[in-house]
Amino acid sequence: MKQRENFGSKLGIIMATAGSALGLGNIYRFPVEAGNNGGGAFLIVYIAVALLIGAPLMISEFIIGRRSRSNPIGAFRTISGKRTPFTLVGWGGVLSAFLILAFYTTVAGWTLGYLGKSILNHFGGQDLPQIQAQFTAFVDHPWLPIVCQLAFLAMTAVVVLRGVAKGIERWSKILMPLLLVIMVVLCVKSLTLPGAAKGLQFLFQPDFSKITGKVLISALGQSFFSLSIGMGALITYGSYIAKSDNLVSSAGSVVLADTLVAILAGIIIFPAAFSFGIKPEVGASLAFTTLPLVFQQMHGGYFFCLLFFLLLVIATLTSTISLLEVIVAALTEEYKLKRSQAAWLGAAITAVIGVLATISMRSSNPLAIGGTSVFDLLDHATALYLMPLGGLFIVLFVGWRMKKADTMAELTNDGTLRAGIRKAILFIIRYLCPLAIAIIFISQLIK
Ligand code: TRP
Repeated sequence: MKQRENFGSKLGIIMATAGSALGLGNIYRFPVEAGNNGGGAFLIVYIAVALLIGAPLMISEFIIGRRSRSNPIGAFRTISGKRTPFTLVGWGGVLSAFLILAFYTTVAGWTLGYLGKSILNHFGGQDLPQIQAQFTAFVDHPWLPIVCQLAFLAMTAVVVLRGVAKGIERWSKILMPLLLVIMVVLCVKSLTLPGAAKGLQFLFQPDFSKITGKVLISALGQSFFSLSIGMGALITYGSYIAKSDNLVSSAGSVVLADTLVAILAGIIIFPAAFSFGIKPEVGASLAFTTLPLVFQQMHGGYFFCLLFFLLLVIATLTSTISLLEVIVAALTEEYKLKRSQAAWLGAAITAVIGVLATISMRSSNPLAIGGTSVFDLLDHATALYLMPLGGLFIVLFVGWRMKKADTMAELTNDGTLRAGIRKAILFIIRYLCPLAIAIIFISQLIK
């Protein structure tokens, strides 16, 4: 068998996983979800879920991937030694990858469009109603958002074509830290706007009475989405991790970084939104109206805006790469397609569903099914159903189906790392994670 590629270095795996995790989930979706679910109440549940369920689940995916050295479909079969119902989790993951990529590239296309707008200086001197009108005009445009989406998909396919280590690592290493720097600058600006304190209060003062079943499942779905877990993307990445890497510390670093960036996005968006009079629950347009307005208030706003959207496009690209990689790994290893065939076929299928999602975001609300847009249907189907279920079966597999000795061997790198805290993590994977996911999932089904 051909030797599978490894990530070049320890930094390689953290950077590549962070590249997958950091993206629109943090900067676009987190503020939308927090805004719709009571702000502080959402944030506190989100942090708890990310640390207690998200991190152990990420470790579990790494374990399955590195143990099996396989894509999510082959992985369960390889470890079990035969086909078991768990193989379905792999297929569910590939299905999720298609569905997520389809609506994700809608917003990814918007970031590309907004990069174009910032180059052309469309935001200079515009007030709130004008910026809002620009957003509506953009999403309602008959072909522009579709072209942007398809361009984004094509870009993703080209990077994926060039292989794992080279393609992905090179992009993430330099640019993600730079994005962080810009976000810190934005944060400072946002906090000094008049009336910013109300936004901070909204984000950080939890009203515990607002913690409902919907908040719980939304936070669970958001954490899975933001961390790229629950559908096998990180099984695929885990299959490229070197035997000497410390899975626990790698996952820990990524979860911390991802949570930090989401909170940072919140600290940028909510104070600014309250200051400008944008409601936190406006939904899809939140980041796309708030951010251009913040840039306008800044010295060198044109430059910062341009750089921000450029880096956002790249952060988004490292996420779409990881989604397409799931599809490509499955198609090349299960169906023996060539990498190039798999990448273009995956992108083409995604494009068909994706264009529907993009059209469904027009303000006339076309293509709605039962009053819900295709975009929201895809989002809900994955974040509220497929990923929680996938996550549940992944922790069950690692906790109960794999041999305990094998799991501990992966966690401790064959006994070279201390077992103490890793035993506790295995306990959490076996008991806390499945119970918590099941309870949250079932409680919202009953509603
Ligand atoms: N986590 C990414 C983000 O926050 C999106 C993403 C990439 C993803 N790969 C994934 C989401 C796999 C779910 C599953 O933007």
